[in-house]
Amino acid sequence: MSNEIARKLYSQEFKRNPYPILHELLEQGPIVRSKFPFLGNVWMVSSHAAVNEMLKDRKRFVRDPASLGKKQKGYFPFWMPRSLRVMASGMILRDEPDHRRLRILVEQAFARRSLELIQPRIEEMADELIAEMQEKHRSTGKPVDFMAEYAQRFPIAVIAELLGLPEADRPKFAFWAEKFAIEPNLIGFLKLVPSIGKIEKYLRSQIQLCRNSPRPGLMTELVQAETEGQRLTEDELVAMAVLLLFAGFLTTTHLIGNGMLELFRHPDQRERLLRDDSLMESAINEILRYTSPVQFTKPMRAAEAMNFYGVELKKGEILMAVLAAANVDPTVFENPDQFDISRKPNPHIAFGAGIHVCLGMKLAKLEARVSFQKLWSQLKNLELAVAPEEIQWSRQKGVRGPQSLPIRFEIVSSN
Ligand code: HEM
Repeated sequence: MSNEIARKLYSQEFKRNPYPILHELLEQGPIVRSKFPFLGNVWMVSSHAAVNEMLKDRKRFVRDPASLGKKQKGYFPFWMPRSLRVMASGMILRDEPDHRRLRILVEQAFARRSLELIQPRIEEMADELIAEMQEKHRSTGKPVDFMAEYAQRFPIAVIAELLGLPEADRPKFAFWAEKFAIEPNLIGFLKLVPSIGKIEKYLRSQIQLCRNSPRPGLMTELVQAETEGQRLTEDELVAMAVLLLFAGFLTTTHLIGNGMLELFRHPDQRERLLRDDSLMESAINEILRYTSPVQFTKPMRAAEAMNFYGVELKKGEILMAVLAAANVDPTVFENPDQFDISRKPNPHIAFGAGIHVCLGMKLAKLEARVSFQKLWSQLKNLELAVAPEEIQWSRQKGVRGPQSLPIRFEIVSSN
């Protein structure tokens, strides 16, 4: 079935109930060969131990094909459209030392202390969106789509604010992110190019505006790093802004959407959480483990020939860490398919590991905490308006979350 795995991992059936397929993969061994559209042969690394080892070993595994000593400069070959090559200069596709040079420029903004400063504004934005949802439910009398009205809009609002991008532009980001829901083949990939071109043009104009008149936000700080210290090129700046915008958007949308869905599906766990807020941190970790909003990492490459968990790898071969499988590995997690908000310990790997471990994990957890606390306390008698089996899942590849989540709650009179 190994060649079948890639197809299965992309299916709606898998999104609805991933556990049987993930266990099927794990039972085949920690590293299994499969064929992926566009990438070709890929080794899927699935056990918790092998995934951790691969992501943390930057000597034997690299991201950038250019690190393999080939002639190719950069992630994509020279004949690929320039806009794609610009986007690929982001740190998520780079190895050391370039990765560190870039990551250090933004790390401070995502540290706990910086987030504490913006928490009041994040809470305000959540309140605004909840009030809008209430108004919409009151005026239409119909269920509200939680994904469209809150889970998508909230992370965009937060990341746009952090970058210092104009509020009026937020709907554009959502529109562009939709375009990333491509078919996983070369044609689908090339269809992306016009949207990427538009994003690039927009961001270059924002960079120019920040240069002319600096404004609060990370974008201006990065522009200053570019001009003063020449610590990053303009292409790298564009790639960083795209990475932050999109890495921080649909991932968090799905964490919040999946979290709400699992809390609807598990009323006993929900009651425990609503009674005892000290369970919030472990509940969010369990939502991350149980639903793996990011299902697998960007591809890695073997930097040398080696034997890895019993498999002979050739230099340059492609590997993919299946985080969703590692997160249900029965050798690490007891009753892995059970949703338990007080699970301890919970060494999930939903944010990846090693040098590319998620930069925004504290922000994502903060957004989830603020959302769950406010939604369950402000929306009385909150419930799902459809049966869980009727939920449509996002078509986006490699991420898992509902496409829409109709909800209803008590309508409070506006006066
Ligand atoms: C629940 C929400 C999130 C999840 C599950 C998630 C997951 C991940 C994972 C698995 C990686 C590693 C990818 C790889 O190795 O290929 C990653 C990297 C990254 N994430 Fe997140 N992420 C989330 C939210 C965010 C947020 C809010 C931001 C903020 C902007 C963010 C920014 C990044 C960046 C910049 C990287 C690349 C880091 C690097 O290459 O050094 N993420 N994330």
